[in-house]
Amino acid sequence: MSENWMTEVDTRFPEPTNLHPEIPHPARVYDFLLGGKDHFPSDREAGEKILAMGEGGRTAVRANRAFLQRAVRTLAELGIDQFLDIGTGIPTAGNTHQVAQQADPEARVVYVDNDPIVLTHARALMSGPGHGVTRVLQADLREPEQILAAREVTETLDLTRPVALLLVAVLHFLKDSERPGEIVAALIDALPSGSYVVLSHVTDEVLTDEEVTGVGVAYSKVPTGMNLRTREQVGQFLTGVDLLDPGLVLCPFWRPDGEPAPEANRVSILAAVGRKP
Ligand SMILES: C[S@@+](CC[C@H](N)C(=O)[O-])C[C@H]1O[C@@H](n2cnc3c(N)ncnc32)[C@H](O)[C@@H]1O
Repeated sequence: MSENWMTEVDTRFPEPTNLHPEIPHPARVYDFLLGGKDHFPSDREAGEKILAMGEGGRTAVRANRAFLQRAVRTLAELGIDQFLDIGTGIPTAGNTHQVAQQADPEARVVYVDNDPIVLTHARALMSGPGHGVTRVLQADLREPEQILAAREVTETLDLTRPVALLLVAVLHFLKDSERPGEIVAALIDALPSGSYVVLSHVTDEVLTDEEVTGVGVAYSKVPTGMNLRTREQVGQFLTGVDLLDPGLVLCPFWRPDGEPAPEANRVSILAAVGRKP
């Protein structure tokens, strides 16, 4: 293993001992939908309710994951070599650091997630194809100041140089009362001009009323719920940044590698990449 790979996790947080398997967690439900192995019966129960509505849920999470990878690759090719990925998820194929370090072996990545299960995979998140540094921080998006001040961030990323901030499939786990718009603005404010924000968010735009109800039922036991937002509401998170082409679109249509599949226009996740001027 390269000496540049850091295997440190935030010692302020104890080893994850209580993962609360009886309560479904967003990271584990997502893992179930992606076809991973890190989930408990409570997570499967939620995920199965999504799948009971059809294959759309699985298509959507895969399309979201593919968007994340295309966006990271695009930014790495534009010369971005620092990534702050908040709402990391359980490692799966093509994690941010792997995609970024494939394009730039020196790329530096900090993963942030509030679910202790992500910490249990810290080692997998830190081994990659390049020589860049990758670190993992357990922290909550609802406390952006703590994230920005954490030594995992300040020691790994140079916040005077452009950073890509990833908020991919995470903001819908914040309720309006938690002021997600202010949180996004605070994070973007802390980054220098030329930084990017990569964002995706579940929308009700292409869902039937029945599907909206079904999603609500599936996530009813997940403490955060699933906070579907309209295109206008999602767009407001990107106030003040210049959207790269093609703008805010259903995620399969963000710079697709090939012709999107026919079911792409039923994927209920909006995505965009913006540049801070
Ligand atoms: C649906 S997964 C998305 C994973 C990855 N970003 C992707 O798009 O493939 C959402 C992740 O956000 C995390 N998350 C949810 N609420 C959070 C919060 N308030 N602070 C930090 N992470 C959060 C969950 O634990 C989960 O790992």
